[in-house]
Amino acid sequence: MERLTSPPRLMIVSDLDETMVDHHNDPENLSLLRFNSLWEDAYRHDSLLVFSTGRAPTMYKKLRKQRPLLTPDVIITSVGTEIAYGNSMVRDDEWIEILNKKWDRGIVQEETSKFPELTLQSETEQRPHKLSFHIDKSKVQAVTKELSQRLEKRGLDIKIIFSGGNAFDVLPQGGGKGQALAYLLKKLKAEGKLPINTLACGDSGNDTELFTIPNVYGVMVSNAQEELLEWYAENAKDNTNIIHASERCAGGIIEAIGHFKVGPNLSPRDVSDFLECKMDNVNPGHEVVKFFLFYERWRRGEVENCETYTASLKASCHPAGVFVHPSGAERSLRDTIDELGKYYGDKKGKKFRVWTDQVLATDTMPGTWIVKLDKWEQTGDERKCCTTTVKFTSKDGEGFVWEHVQQIWSEETEIKDDSNWII
Ligand code: GLC
Ligand code: MG
Repeated sequence: MERLTSPPRLMIVSDLDETMVDHHNDPENLSLLRFNSLWEDAYRHDSLLVFSTGRAPTMYKKLRKQRPLLTPDVIITSVGTEIAYGNSMVRDDEWIEILNKKWDRGIVQEETSKFPELTLQSETEQRPHKLSFHIDKSKVQAVTKELSQRLEKRGLDIKIIFSGGNAFDVLPQGGGKGQALAYLLKKLKAEGKLPINTLACGDSGNDTELFTIPNVYGVMVSNAQEELLEWYAENAKDNTNIIHASERCAGGIIEAIGHFKVGPNLSPRDVSDFLECKMDNVNPGHEVVKFFLFYERWRRGEVENCETYTASLKASCHPAGVFVHPSGAERSLRDTIDELGKYYGDKKGKKFRVWTDQVLATDTMPGTWIVKLDKWEQTGDERKCCTTTVKFTSKDGEGFVWEHVQQIWSEETEIKDDSNWII
């Protein structure tokens, strides 16, 4: 969050399973990839991305390996009971202090074990401030009432959340996704960085609280669970700051950005002829997002194989520009574009996707920018990531010139063969 010097233009606080990630209808993650390129293109540089998930940190990391999720600025895990910041996930210890109030994990364990209706979820989901069970929907009301009374009698102040038609979480009263968001907003405000707009996105019971925080827009994706829709019908249907989207998952988030008019909502992935399309953009990060999208389509054989494209790309490279391949080999940028010509359509039918993450541009000198990003490439189940640095120059608003591109394999990428990595 330190990278922002002024209030973020937009803060998106989104659930992951069945909100960002569509587990049922989108095996190629197309909506998520649409959201990703919109975010990197138009928001990354001046906005905040927050994921708020029911998953424990280890299960969140697992999901990141399976799906093309962007790196969030803030990650809230375990149903709002753990907050961490940045790439390296630095834990918020102050939040833990707050959760410790009137909480005793041992007592919750003891009392919940007396209910045969509750079956413990896997060990990986049990956290210091979250005990999670499975329950039959018909038993929820009675168990909630009885358990709350017993825990109150033992001096605790707890919260019970029913989600996804069968999950039953017991948390400290001060925890939960809503309280975690309120805490984050308070913290940002104290730093003079209260977001201009905040949009909360969710699909199930544990997301309900997100929609109760003042001055926060909300979107329930089209595929929202019954328990969330019931809560909405009973409590919030006149609240025009909350919508039930007509699109599923990440598609619903993009829809809400448009509905509430909180910023651009045209994903570069929705533009077919983007080399021609002059988007109103003065950020060189846009050039990179656009290029790698072109690169994906080129190798998938989805754009026309015509000279005009490669010629226009070559024209935007400095004649003496150099590309440093992650293997260390160096080649001229213009030769690299020529090389690309040979790979047209080589990934046709191969589940090939390319996406960019953490695209950040800094202007080092007037007319010169350094853009840093993670470039991901996936074929089938195998994926690789390169930290990429691009130097651009621009004279008198005449468009950006690629001066230098350097790539290094990111730590998590295991390289067996890098001969097929072009740029
Ligand atoms: C996630 C968690 C699970 C929790 C559920 C509902 O699926 O993994 O432990 O019960 O969210 O909050
Ligand atoms: Mg969900």
